[in-house]
Amino acid sequence: MSELSVDHLLGIKYLDKKDIALIFETADHFKEVINRSIKKVPTLRDTTIANIFFENSTRTRLSFELAEKRLSADVVNFSASQSSVKKGETLIDTVNNILSMKVDMVVMRHPNPGAGIFLSKHVDASIINAGDGAHEHPTQALLDSYSIREKLGDIRGKNVVIVGDILHSRVALSNIFALKLQGANVKVCGPKTLIPKHIESLGVKVETNLRKALEWCDVANMLRVQNERMDISYFPSTREYTQQFGVNKQLLNSLDKQIVIMHPGPINRGVEITSDVADSDQSIILEQVENGVAIRMAVMYLLAAKK
Ligand code: CP
Repeated sequence: MSELSVDHLLGIKYLDKKDIALIFETADHFKEVINRSIKKVPTLRDTTIANIFFENSTRTRLSFELAEKRLSADVVNFSASQSSVKKGETLIDTVNNILSMKVDMVVMRHPNPGAGIFLSKHVDASIINAGDGAHEHPTQALLDSYSIREKLGDIRGKNVVIVGDILHSRVALSNIFALKLQGANVKVCGPKTLIPKHIESLGVKVETNLRKALEWCDVANMLRVQNERMDISYFPSTREYTQQFGVNKQLLNSLDKQIVIMHPGPINRGVEITSDVADSDQSIILEQVENGVAIRMAVMYLLAAKK
């Protein structure tokens, strides 16, 4: 029987091509399950999963919780803002206290890059990184690739541009690793100040002209400007950012082809993407969200099978 090469999902960087293929094959099965009238399977009935979120989340948190419930796992939710972390408790003490209540798996979002890696070395449970600072967001990249594969049939040879705040984006880094592993051609596009200096060493090209990037690509993944991770200004004004790096219907209609539009959310409508694009038939934003549940079911099922 096939199994993952890893015991934790800490980043796409630690996966190989076979892992991604296995996750997608398993997600295909779970996608069929969640579209049945009875959406629940007893697969993780004896597994307890803790979702611990030290940063805000809508999609990821709900998606993991729904995936856990569809797999019949017992679920506990922990939010840092209502916890003893506020009283000075360390990350390891917090998590070890949760684990002493016989928790098997931890899904964690944390503002510090590497928090999940650190935790995996100190606690005895499977760790899933639900976003660690500006580092990685592996399940987002998996659901993004899965959605491209579903829409275009294959990822190999496809041209994908990631547009926006690449510097502060864990979604960008995880997507780059995932897309390159699967043979896509990847460009990043945004203001020079929001593109990391040595990004080309990851095998991607930089394009600072959005029109040229869109003319080249099959898929454009639009990212939000992460103001919460900025302590200085990286561009003159939001209006100028939108003029240069925002996608709107007029721009898309002026291309001589139909490209696929993605966005991981949350969307800032009217900044990086207009409503008429986000809600158009070129957009697969809601399909991404739907696929997130099947992908997360697959990841948790495959990690639980390794215990
Ligand atoms: N895509 C994503 O991570 O969204 P949330 O921050 O709402 O979880």
